[in-house]
Amino acid sequence: MTKIIQAVRGMKDILPDEAERWEAFESLVRDWLRGYGYRPMRMPLVEPTPLFKRAIGEVTDIVEKEMYTFGDAEESLTLRPEGTASCVRAVLEHNLLYDGPKRLWYMGPMFRRERPQKGRYRQFYQVGVEALGFAEPAMDAELILMGQRLWDDLDIHGVKLELNSLGSLEERARHRVDLVAYLEKHQDRLDEDSRRRLGSNPLRILDTKNPHMQELVEGAPRLTDYLGDASLAHFESVRQLLSDAGIPHRVNPRLVRGLDYYNRTVFEWVTDRLGAQGTICAGGRYDGLFEQLGGKPQPAAGFALGVERVLALWDEAQSAAFIESPDLYVVHDGEGAGRVAFSVAEELRDGGFAVQLHAGGGNFKAQMKRADGSGAKLALIVGEDEVRVDAVTVKPLRESRPQLRVARNELALHIADYLFGDEDEHDGNL
Ligand code: HAM
Repeated sequence: MTKIIQAVRGMKDILPDEAERWEAFESLVRDWLRGYGYRPMRMPLVEPTPLFKRAIGEVTDIVEKEMYTFGDAEESLTLRPEGTASCVRAVLEHNLLYDGPKRLWYMGPMFRRERPQKGRYRQFYQVGVEALGFAEPAMDAELILMGQRLWDDLDIHGVKLELNSLGSLEERARHRVDLVAYLEKHQDRLDEDSRRRLGSNPLRILDTKNPHMQELVEGAPRLTDYLGDASLAHFESVRQLLSDAGIPHRVNPRLVRGLDYYNRTVFEWVTDRLGAQGTICAGGRYDGLFEQLGGKPQPAAGFALGVERVLALWDEAQSAAFIESPDLYVVHDGEGAGRVAFSVAEELRDGGFAVQLHAGGGNFKAQMKRADGSGAKLALIVGEDEVRVDAVTVKPLRESRPQLRVARNELALHIADYLFGDEDEHDGNL
């Protein structure tokens, strides 16, 4: 036998039980975003490679080693590793900010060739939230509050907020000079990765996970000490608004992010419940990106959450509530009955019911087993007897109520009564 072909490493199938949970999550996310005035966007999965090189930065892990890049005719294309660059590209291309700032969001797969492990995939999903054209610190704070509200809505606890300010380009440049001088002085204590980064992206060295370099990094000049008055005031204002809203946070001076477009506020929501992949949501301000991509300068800020990671935290017990069952399962025996069952199912769908028509043969007993497994509340039985008298037998599957033969022209009404009648009673309408 030939071996079956499997999914690409790091890319997973979302099977029905899980997919239903995803859909429940997505619908919650839509409501949450509407609550903050965000409108949806959908961008292509593939973009010209230079977009990501320019936006994310040539010397980032993502661009250097994680992008799925391929040639197409004369152009180099890349599967998007993130959404912010695409979103800003689309906004520039369609001049979406012509009449003022916009709040936009998107959801979909991103691709990074990272080493796969639990919570880290090569195709993963993000919900991205971008506030474009807003300069005030209140927007940074609002974006952060949004995160907290979502965790509350999902009943997710113990997610911690880490915050930092990266200042302006000029402030970072001054810090960089001193940082490089410090690191050069201690060249012998740098690992290979850091030595390589020294000339290109020294700030990322501060983000190293190498335990042998922690002491060195602790002693390095801190970007915070290089922030000017405007950056400090912005940061203080964000922190004040967070305190007013009762959101605890930790300033982490080593939080630098893996994408180069950020300035001023950066933040991450982290949990210790997911092992090494503890960041469930991250973002910050990126006032320079519009100009970097050839547009008129525009202040902007945003974040993206990792859907797989957030879902992993969402209480497993909740999942049972989201398994979607049909209302009705139609079983049938005999050729004539098969045709009647086919049209009964369609009629009931016209009436707004979710109907699963048995397919695949088998006797009544086997079919009833399937009906039970489907989660439907009622089985509808269409046999030769029923066909003869133009009726259908309705059998409750979740309650010990007797089955009943119902004339076909009264079927929809009867079922509606059975499925929804009780609610009226509870409401006290009867
Ligand atoms: P990011 O930090 O690269 O930022 O990704 C955001 C989130 O996506 C992460 O916190 C994590 O939850 C999830 N994520 C990233 N890589 C993986 C992976 N390999 N497997 C599973 N989940 C992953 C961005 O992408 C920015 N575009 C966020 C942003 C929007 N900044 C401003 N606006």
